[in-house]
Amino acid sequence: MGSAPSPPSTELSAYGQRLASAAPIPWNPQPFALDFRYGELAGSDFPTLAWRRALANAVAKRPSRLRYGDPRGLPELRAALQGYLWRGRGLRCEIDDILVVNGSQQGFDLCTRLLLDPGDRVVIEDPGYNLARQAFLTAGAELSPQPVDREGMQTATLPPARLAFVTPSHQLPLGSILSAPRRQELLAWAARHGAAIIEDDYDAEYRHGVGPVPPLRSLDQTGRVIYLGTVSKTLSPTLRLGYLVLPPALREVFARAKRMVDRHTPELEQAALAELITSGAYERHVRRIRRRNGERRAALLKALRERLGERVSIVGTDAGLHVLAWINGLPQAREAELTERAAAASLGLYGVSGLYDRPDDFERRAGLVIGYAALDEAQIAAGIARLDGLLRELGA
Ligand SMILES: Cc1ncc(COP(=O)(O)O)c(C=O)c1O
Repeated sequence: MGSAPSPPSTELSAYGQRLASAAPIPWNPQPFALDFRYGELAGSDFPTLAWRRALANAVAKRPSRLRYGDPRGLPELRAALQGYLWRGRGLRCEIDDILVVNGSQQGFDLCTRLLLDPGDRVVIEDPGYNLARQAFLTAGAELSPQPVDREGMQTATLPPARLAFVTPSHQLPLGSILSAPRRQELLAWAARHGAAIIEDDYDAEYRHGVGPVPPLRSLDQTGRVIYLGTVSKTLSPTLRLGYLVLPPALREVFARAKRMVDRHTPELEQAALAELITSGAYERHVRRIRRRNGERRAALLKALRERLGERVSIVGTDAGLHVLAWINGLPQAREAELTERAAAASLGLYGVSGLYDRPDDFERRAGLVIGYAALDEAQIAAGIARLDGLLRELGA
């Protein structure tokens, strides 16, 4: 009689129920013909030859006995990362502070497992990174969203919390760089309340005409900052390779948790990345794609200026691989209409509203988070011309 009842929700753990009832985070299996999805890179930028050589060497060096590896990561990769972080980010750390993870996302997961209980408060940026936000929510945390302005997350009136999540080098999505006074304020807050800070340094390699900003981790005197790095924006998001730089007091328990979750990150890829870094090929590659992405960014800003002029206000252009375009003549309530019409024409445009904790602000304009690292200049110009056409159709 009728269809089988769906399984009672009690079969899921509280964690499972929270995840099942969370708003889904969209992911389209196929890119659109012209796709401004941020977080994606051009396949042609991948250093194929260098990677193939490094991977072949890693396979050739395979030991006589195949054993489970160190949950913290291959020692040669952790040593290579230690040198890279010092040269590239001015971050000094011990090899034993570094834990190799399967991308930033596993870093968030380990942090929630080890640092949060249901009901604990987590300070997040609003708007902010939805996959981090969902990791905290699923852990049962109470979120305390903080507004973001041109100096990054506002830090003057933070409530007591167990954890704060920030993107200080390039705020996702508004693109601001956390100012020096706010960095100090955030560190002082963490020390006062015994809170940890996750510093997500996801695209720090990309600075456009502004000097590098030292990571929070390098200012931290009290062991409160967990630094999180990834190769998703320099090599490929498909590799799933990232790393935590942990305060000494957390090293051991994070290594145990990593072992529980998946024993360790696949070693061939770790060995290939170690060779890429120690041979100098990684930093040469980073310099090359930094230049290449600078060209794409220039093409995007030119197209936005020439095609859309005053109809958009562009922010967050100093760093990273995306910019934010506020659409001056279109209210937020019509943002979805714009992105849906674009999708119907195979143009990938992504609204900013979904990244707000409180999405319904009727004062707010529609906004687009425009990623440019997977497109060439002609595609960027064609995509912005299509956006121009869509905005005219919508009367904006
Ligand atoms: C804020 C932020 N952090 C981290 C990442 C990278 O995540 P992962 O290392 O899991 O690929 C992204 C990717 O878009 C991001 O936007």
